Amino acid sequence: MATDTIQRTQLQLDVWREFVWTAGEQGDPYALLLRAPEDPYPLYEQIRARGPLTRSALGTYLVADHGLAGKILRDRRFGVRMVNGDQAPQSVEFDNSLLGLDPPDHSRLRKLTIHAVNPGQMEPWRARVERFCDELIDKVLAGPVKFNFMTAFAQQLPMYVIGELIGVPDAHRRTLFGLTRRMMHLVDGEPSVELMADVARSTAEMHAMFADIIALRQAERGDDLISDLLPALDDGRLTMAELIPLCAFLTLGGVETTVNLIANATHLLLAHPEQWDAFRDDPSLASAVIQETLRFETPTQQYRRIAQEELELDGVVLPVDSQLAILAGAANRDPVVYPDPGRFDITRPPSRELLSFSLGIHFCLGAALARLEGEVALAAIARRLPDLRRIGPIRRRKSFIIRGMVQFPVARASGG
Ligand code: HEM
Repeated sequence: MATDTIQRTQLQLDVWREFVWTAGEQGDPYALLLRAPEDPYPLYEQIRARGPLTRSALGTYLVADHGLAGKILRDRRFGVRMVNGDQAPQSVEFDNSLLGLDPPDHSRLRKLTIHAVNPGQMEPWRARVERFCDELIDKVLAGPVKFNFMTAFAQQLPMYVIGELIGVPDAHRRTLFGLTRRMMHLVDGEPSVELMADVARSTAEMHAMFADIIALRQAERGDDLISDLLPALDDGRLTMAELIPLCAFLTLGGVETTVNLIANATHLLLAHPEQWDAFRDDPSLASAVIQETLRFETPTQQYRRIAQEELELDGVVLPVDSQLAILAGAANRDPVVYPDPGRFDITRPPSRELLSFSLGIHFCLGAALARLEGEVALAAIARRLPDLRRIGPIRRRKSFIIRGMVQFPVARASGG
């Protein structure tokens, strides 16, 4: 970045930080949420108490109400970009691929991509995921009795699956996933000029790496997403400028979310021994464990929509370009939909749709795969690490978007 750009960006960040700080000191629950507290749930309740659609002192409209959130996500008068096509202010510059596009480009790209991650085509993945889980657990059993569940297990599985899905050769995987960790500053912690510059550098490195991988696949096609999309690249339905960010986004969106689903589920089960016992006795409860974890500790806590025209919603007039924070982590605990929502309960009857994977045209393309990974991982842990226990305090990620951990110290049985 040029020096004057750095100074300007730093100034904008300082002004924004001051604004958020002051609003927080005055008790604005959204400003407090942006400080990424360990426990965001009381703030969600404060927001809910203010009504289904309420405006933060920061200008963002907040939606914690399950019904209203679903309505907005399905309403085509809301998009993901400003009306002039710009990204929303305060977002770190990153090409979000599908998630950063409104129709008609979104529809074209999604139609091409859905073929590779079609929920109907996910079942053949089960055996591969099972095999990889077993290999990972073999390594855990051969390693120290005490370990960090995040690095030894939770981070490994989604990286492997996405690598296989996209068609990343083994030799590139380690570097690629090092880059995703650096890019997670997009959603973690306080933005600073240094972090933003590092995100830009790692994004450029990742894009260069995907350009190389695409060239490899052009020389030798395989059974993967890139190879699947090459005909569209050849006949002009897809451009290289779209395919590269798509691969980068799938890497980020497919790994950093699923890691937390697997770890949050394991953490919650260990914290509720009677439910851990019930699950070990009946591994067919795996899908119920995943469903309840998606609700109770939603990995992606919030996402954004922007009004594409002036409109009235729930009695409130929203000007064009209004920003809305869809608080999925709050909507998934809406007491109108989920009785006693603050209780983790894997026997909860399957209920209304969760907001964990969004709804409407941006509904997560990897939802079926993420569920499958979670179910297989949990079943493997219950079977092969039945004595797993937490042995120290967890450390959460400092993010108001992602609900996850960096440290989850556990121990397995020493004879295992
Ligand atoms: C537990 C794991 C996951 C969670 C919680 C999750 C969550 C989400 C959410 C909330 C959105 C939509 C955000 C919005 O509406 O603004 C989304 C979109 C998306 N996700 Fe996921 N995701 C997960 C796993 C995956 C995986 C494994 C993949 C890839 C295989 C993936 C690929 C995508 C893509 C491509 C989109 C954009 C869809 C579009 O804009 O049309 N996700 N995800």
